Amino acid sequence: MLIRSASDIPASAITPREVYLNRRQFMAAGAGMTLALLGADAAASLLSRSSPFSTTEDKNSLKEITTYNNFYEFGTDKSDPAANAHTLKTSPWSIVVEGEAGKPRRFGMEELLKIAPLEERIYRLRCVEGWSMVIPWVGFPLASLLKLVEPTSKAKFVAFESLADPQQMPGVKSRVLDWPYREGLRIDEAMHPLTILAVGLYGEVLPKQNGAPVRLVVPWKYGFKSIKSIVRIRLQETQPSTSWSTANPSEYGFYSNVNPAVDHPRWSQATERRIGELFKRKTLPFNGYADQVAALYKGMDLRKFY
Ligand code: MTE
Repeated sequence: MLIRSASDIPASAITPREVYLNRRQFMAAGAGMTLALLGADAAASLLSRSSPFSTTEDKNSLKEITTYNNFYEFGTDKSDPAANAHTLKTSPWSIVVEGEAGKPRRFGMEELLKIAPLEERIYRLRCVEGWSMVIPWVGFPLASLLKLVEPTSKAKFVAFESLADPQQMPGVKSRVLDWPYREGLRIDEAMHPLTILAVGLYGEVLPKQNGAPVRLVVPWKYGFKSIKSIVRIRLQETQPSTSWSTANPSEYGFYSNVNPAVDHPRWSQATERRIGELFKRKTLPFNGYADQVAALYKGMDLRKFY
């Protein structure tokens, strides 16, 4: 399930103290070389880094996080990504960052890993289907990447695209969505410090079913905004179209902020079931991140902008 090859990203370097044992196992598997890639100082500081943005709620288990997934490129059942994503080739990998930017360019994976210190971020993930998890991601702020390309004053939105290769992704042969999977954020949402690009979880390289090698995580929005296996990021003046709002505009809007007061036509959003728990709990506005993000939407009718 976990990817443990030396050519992968430096899991030894991103492992927080809690899972130190795993780090040692990873190093034994030969990742010492990639640790050097990050630089000794960076690697050392990563070991003690934990974020004030993290929740202290109980984490879901690695098994829960890696066997109950939505990744339609590998099938529509929750168990499909774990069964099928092994065919995804995650190296070499790069993301092109283009559009309204002074310095648009392509970033290789090694370069992406060095943009900012990797941190553990323990976030709630709330799926629109009514379940939730707590996931210890490893990543860095999306803002750190975007700043490097120098967004112009016309960069009002950010559009994201996943890989869509039918050779590697059997689900792409079905017409269940209009591929590639597309998502978008307003520029201030993209620049918000809670918004990260994740490259690992539980201190290890990101499992393929969770969107390896690099995926977005926007914890105050429904899970479908957190697009996996990203290959393209475009800064643009107009609001991007997204896969789910294109497929079903009355069910999915652009903003998709977690909002217990606005139900999805097929699923109540008032409560949620934390995977592994029996009883439902109340869903919190903005998934519990209202203090940090509610100001972004001041004056907006969140029933209209769902
Ligand atoms: N990204 C792509 N490319 N394809 C997908 O089908 N599913 C989304 C999101 N990102 C999806 C995607 C949905 S609906 C959810 S709930 C989360 O990924 C699930 O992330 P997880 O499997 O890591 O928990």
